[in-house]
Amino acid sequence: MKILGIETSCDDTAASVVEDGRLLLSNVIASQVELHNRYGGVVPEVASRQHVLEIIPTIQESLAQSGCSFNDIDAIAVTNGPGLAGSLIVGLNTAKALAFGNDLPLIGINHLEGHVYANWLDGDAPDESPGFPLLCLIASGGHTDLILMSNHGEYELLGRTRDDAAGEAFDKAARVLGLGFPGGPEIQKASQNALGNIDMPRAWLRGSLDFSFSGLKTAFLNKAKDLGMYPPDPSKNVDEEQIREMAAGFQMSVADVIAVKTIQAATQYEVKGILLGGGVAANAKLRSVLTERSDIPVIIPAPRLCTDNGAMIAACAYFKLNKQHESQWDLDVYPNLHLG
Ligand code: KG4
Ligand code: ZN
Repeated sequence: MKILGIETSCDDTAASVVEDGRLLLSNVIASQVELHNRYGGVVPEVASRQHVLEIIPTIQESLAQSGCSFNDIDAIAVTNGPGLAGSLIVGLNTAKALAFGNDLPLIGINHLEGHVYANWLDGDAPDESPGFPLLCLIASGGHTDLILMSNHGEYELLGRTRDDAAGEAFDKAARVLGLGFPGGPEIQKASQNALGNIDMPRAWLRGSLDFSFSGLKTAFLNKAKDLGMYPPDPSKNVDEEQIREMAAGFQMSVADVIAVKTIQAATQYEVKGILLGGGVAANAKLRSVLTERSDIPVIIPAPRLCTDNGAMIAACAYFKLNKQHESQWDLDVYPNLHLG
């Protein structure tokens, strides 16, 4: 079965064809990074207008790369929340029109569940090994959620961020250091070869599986001010070593807290494995810290499948279609959709 997956929840216009929920036949992403970079973050109105321009060429390119026409496609899956309303609407309405015009089933997908199913793509299938229950950590620009997955489509939210999402914190820290957007990859790059001589605080919120990153954000800003790095002084040379150490201190604090709380939840709920998803799961430090510290299998998608893509939406839909989850034509967007 071949599913076309469409994703436009934020600033990436993405379309992908996936066979049987696992095999990536194409994965096309039209990134808007350059467009939003000058503003230091995603501008919703700019994002939705760009999706309108990119969506049809992106889908056409995705079909062409997969060697498929609509005659070969069995269903169309699309993200209908959470995300930016104006961005979601572009993907959903395009998917509806294409499904209606080609007489194909339409399946609305929760973006967060899509991040979970990126783990079924091109790798070891979690339902064969290690089996359910699984603990999912979704860490992205808008979410830091710990979710218990007892079976396909069965979720319970165990913990979430009480303030900033991990990705949002990375983006803000990068801005303080004068690095580019999105901040996660920039912080990761800047921290390479750091000595680790700057330590940042960790909010443990003991007794809870929730997260908090706003204290770290404030401590980071104050440290940057103490070191004379912020606000940036154009008359002074940038101190690369200071940037490296600050970036590494920040990254280690986030990776440490996420790893400790994820392993704590996995132990508490006696799961068989840990799944990661969302843009922050692309972070090399988080991947290595969690994998080294966990006694049970840790499954993480390839970095390019952690950030937003259409393949994860198609993969998720495959498991929904088998469960008769076809959407109706009045399917709407839900900017605040939760999982579990
Ligand atoms: O999942 P995603 O692509 O979009 C949302 O659903 O939000 O996640 C984007 C977030 C951004 O905040 C970005 O800075 C972060 O993921 N990110 C990373 C890395 N790559 C992307 N954070 C840390 N390390 C990375 N390598
Ligand atoms: Zn995402």
